[in-house]
Amino acid sequence: MNDLSEVLYTSDELARRVGEVAAQIDADYEGREVLLVGVLNGAVMVMSDLQRAMKSHVQMDWMAVSSYGSGTQSSGVVRILKDLSMDLEGRHVIVVEDIIDTGLTLSYLMSNLASRKPASLEIMTMFRKPEAARMDVAVKYVGFEIPSQFVVGYGLDYAGRYRNLRDLGILAPHIYA
Ligand code: PRP
Ligand code: MN
Ligand code: MG
Repeated sequence: MNDLSEVLYTSDELARRVGEVAAQIDADYEGREVLLVGVLNGAVMVMSDLQRAMKSHVQMDWMAVSSYGSGTQSSGVVRILKDLSMDLEGRHVIVVEDIIDTGLTLSYLMSNLASRKPASLEIMTMFRKPEAARMDVAVKYVGFEIPSQFVVGYGLDYAGRYRNLRDLGILAPHIYA
C-alpha cells in the first residue's frame, strides 16, 4: 500500500516476535492461569495473535478508555468507556497494548487495575516509543522499541484507518499533511 512511506516490520517479523514473547510468558507463568486484558481498539491484533501463540491456559477481557477528553491536549485524566467484565481479585493479569506512546493511558490504567487486587499485574506492549521511558510504570514485555514516527498497521490507526494492515509502517506524510 503506497499510503506507507516505509515498512518497519513485516507481518512475518511481527509474528515471530509475538511467538517469542508468548513463549516467555508461558515460561514465566508456568502453572498459573493468565488473564489478558486488552485495551480497545488498538490491541485487538496483538491480543489475538498472542493468545494463539501461547500454550498455557489463558483467559481474556477488554477495556475501552479515552485519554484525551474534548481537547487535543492530554488532560492527564483517563476515562473508562467500557470496563472489564471480570473481577481481577486473585488473578494473574497482563495488560496488553499495541503501543505505549506517552505512557499516559497505561500509567492511569495500572493504578486503577492494581486497586482491584489482582494476584499479579504486568504489561505487554507490542511497540514502545522512547518517550514512554519517562513513565513511572514498569513494562515487563515489549515487542519492539520503535522511533517516534507516525506508525500504523497491526492495530494502530490514523483517524480509525489502517488498523487492518498486516505490516507495521510509517504513514506517508502526504496522507495527514
Ligand atoms: C493509542 C494506543 C494506546 C495509547 C497509547 O490508543 O492504542 O492505547 O494510544 O498512547 P499513550 O501512551 O500516549 O497514552 P488510542 O487512544 O489512539 O485509541 P485506539 O486504541 O482505539 O486507537
Ligand atoms: Mn489504544
Ligand atoms: Mg488510536
